Amino acid sequence: MRGKRIRTTGKNLFAAAALFLPLAALLSGCGKRAALDLQTEAPDGLISVAFSEVGAESDWRVANSESMRTTFTEENGYEFYFEDAKGKQENQITTLRNYILQGVDYIVLAPVVETGWDEVLQEAKDAGIPVIVVDRMVDVENEDLYAAWVGSDFKKEGEVAVEWLEKYLEEQGRADEEIRILHVMGTLGASSQLGRTEGLEEGVAAHDNWEIAAQLQGDYTQAKTYEVVAEYLAESEDIDVIYCENDNSTLGAIQALDEAGISYGTDGDVILISFDATTVGLAACLEGSINLDVECNPLHGPRVEQIILQIEAGETPQKLTYVDETYFTPDTLTEELIAARGY
Ligand code: AHR
Repeated sequence: MRGKRIRTTGKNLFAAAALFLPLAALLSGCGKRAALDLQTEAPDGLISVAFSEVGAESDWRVANSESMRTTFTEENGYEFYFEDAKGKQENQITTLRNYILQGVDYIVLAPVVETGWDEVLQEAKDAGIPVIVVDRMVDVENEDLYAAWVGSDFKKEGEVAVEWLEKYLEEQGRADEEIRILHVMGTLGASSQLGRTEGLEEGVAAHDNWEIAAQLQGDYTQAKTYEVVAEYLAESEDIDVIYCENDNSTLGAIQALDEAGISYGTDGDVILISFDATTVGLAACLEGSINLDVECNPLHGPRVEQIILQIEAGETPQKLTYVDETYFTPDTLTEELIAARGY
């Protein structure tokens, strides 16, 4: 259950801590005391929820941030704090420490990578602040360091892609052909990268005629993927499949293929497999440029709220919650379906 509620004068806790903590620490000669001096009871009974987001590297991420913002509004009874880590774990650790010093009611963490969280999560636990992990997972020694996690089964997403590819090649009469796969990975060490990579690698190991031609680092962005795929295609065009670990990456690969004059998609030479199923990805899928888009749903705001409401009610939330997801191919899509999906 939540302890004392606190509030700062501004919405940006990071800036508040940066401004006031050194002064208060100087006056009191004690950092911890300084943090307490900052705390005041929230007069309005709002629950303070402080979110540390990975960044804004993809359409998926923007939709995820928006889902949090539109869920944790004052009208819904929340005071919401947000920090964008710009893809850096060290920024997230600093942000979490500031949230802890401020004594927020809940911390929500979308971690950049899985490892390296034990110390700061122990600090949150010692301060009595429940941490809810969302999207990617944390790999910690003691699972009690966080209250709950909600996100996708990333390995299953990879397995879905592999199963689809197997069937598709069969339908095309290519089941026994040599298949060379160019693999563009997301942010290294992120659960989504690890799971989707594992799914693919296991699939390749199970097919004697499949081969990973190269593994490139696309970092989940269009720009980086364009750069690495263009560089790769300048050396070799002998590719049957490009497996990109998110939609923005796939758009970067499309850019590089266009430039190299290589055809792709339902009527082309290269099969494109993507993840996320964002509006931009599905639009490319509907027109036949992307052959398969595996869903990774970013609308976690209401899911995190459910967990908070359970804790508020004195209940213990389920430790791990996997979101149900599907996949899309050009023949299963319509403009109406894309428009109705909300991200
Ligand atoms: O961890 C989820 C991944 O992170 C999404 O697939 C990607 O688009 C995002 O940046």
